[in-house]
Amino acid sequence: MKIFLDSTDIDYIMRLRATGMVDGITTNPSLMAQSGKDFGEVLRGICALIEGPVSAEVVVTESEEMYKQGRHLADLAGNIVVKLPCTWEGMIACRKLANENIKVNVTLCFSANQALLAAKAGATFISPFIGRIDDTGADGMELIEEIRAVYDNYDFETEILAASIRNIDHVKNAALIGADVATLPPKIFEELIEHPLTDKGLEKFLQDWKATGQKIPVP
Ligand code: E4P
Repeated sequence: MKIFLDSTDIDYIMRLRATGMVDGITTNPSLMAQSGKDFGEVLRGICALIEGPVSAEVVVTESEEMYKQGRHLADLAGNIVVKLPCTWEGMIACRKLANENIKVNVTLCFSANQALLAAKAGATFISPFIGRIDDTGADGMELIEEIRAVYDNYDFETEILAASIRNIDHVKNAALIGADVATLPPKIFEELIEHPLTDKGLEKFLQDWKATGQKIPVP
C-alpha cells in the first residue's frame, strides 16, 4: 500500500521524507487555510520535495470553472493531481481533465455508487473518507471493502485512496482490505512504528550487550 501524507506543512513533510516512505501528498482547502500561506507557494514547495502525486483541490462548484482551476493547478508542477468533489459537476470536469491526461483525485466519496461513477469518469484516485463515516456511527471500512469489490469486479484502474484516517487501525484495516493508498496525517504516520514490546525488547538487548563490555566500532 502506498502512503501519502495529508498535510500542507512543508517542514514536517521534509522531515518524514527522510524515511523514504512518503509516496505522495494530499492537501485540501482546510489544510491550505491552516498553512496561512499562498497556495501556489505551498504546492510548488511540496512538489519540489516529493516526486509522487500531490493532490491540489479546486474551490469552485461548476464544471467549467472546475476544469479551468484544475488546468491552472496542473500547470503548477508535473506531479499535481487535481482534486475534485464527488458531484455531477465534478464528474464532468473529471472526464474533461482525464481526456487531457491530467490526473484527478475524486474526493468526498461516501458511497460505492459514487466511487463507481468516479471510475467511469476516468479518475486516477477515489478518496473515501473513512473517519467522517465513522463519525456518523457507521463503519467507514465497510465502504473501502465495497469499493474494492466493485473495482475488482470490473477491473477499474482507479486507485482507492483511503482518506480521513484517524488512527493506526484505520491504516492496518485499509491495508488488509487492499486499498491502494492511504493518506495519513503526519502524526499517524509517526505512530505506525510504535510498539511497547519493541521498546522493551530493545532496552533488554542493549542492557545485555553492555554487560559484555564489548564495542562494535562506529567509524
Ligand atoms: C484527504 O485527501 C482528505 O482531504 C482528508 O483525509 C480529510 O480528512 P479529515 O476528515 O480528517 O478532514
